Amino acid sequence: MDMVFLSKYYKFFINGTGITLFLSLFGVIFGVIIGVFLALMKMSKKSFFSMIASAYIEIIRGTPLLVQLFIIYIGLPKVTGIPFTDLSIGIIAVSLNSAAYVAEIIRAGIQSIDKGQMEAARSLGMTHSMGMRLIIIPQAFKNILPALGNEFIVLVKESAIVSVIGIHDLMYNADTVRGISFKPFTPLFIAAIIYFIITFSLSKLVGILERRLRAGDSN
Ligand code: ARG
Repeated sequence: MDMVFLSKYYKFFINGTGITLFLSLFGVIFGVIIGVFLALMKMSKKSFFSMIASAYIEIIRGTPLLVQLFIIYIGLPKVTGIPFTDLSIGIIAVSLNSAAYVAEIIRAGIQSIDKGQMEAARSLGMTHSMGMRLIIIPQAFKNILPALGNEFIVLVKESAIVSVIGIHDLMYNADTVRGISFKPFTPLFIAAIIYFIITFSLSKLVGILERRLRAGDSN
């Protein structure tokens, strides 16, 4: 890997990294918004809601993101008549996929809090929703926030799949550089290094966050 190579093609990697981060960030943000609703639906006492949420979560987790991406890519413009850009299709697919995983993160986080906490809250005269808001959610947050950080890391890697519909993410641009530079290997190697730098630093950050959140536990 020589400097001339990098100085010639570095823009492809920088732009691609930008798109990859953009897609993963919005994927996780929309994933969280939809995921919260799914988690609430799944925990609802009304079996209609919980069944719909369960079905959605199972189907999304039980089918490949690649297939979901193509279904949305081909199906959504056809059904709605709206000419979606490739990038928005990518964000929609990644968000809808992530939402299923986020829903389970949130549900598990809330259900991991001991039942006695809600009972104590109720016995102090709080309503169920006060107990949720003031007692359960703040504690669940400690499990949920780092897990959401990990979901973001997963999306940085999994989003490489959107390159198949022509979104110019890091993977796609690495492939472009392979084509124009006639170097079949180096661009992939650089992409791998960039992916690794991103995920490694993010997972260190999540580790710090986890320790910070846990710091108050012993008091
Ligand atoms: N490779 C997985 C699949 O094909 C994607 C999993 C996405 N994971 C996530 N936590 N959003 O289904």
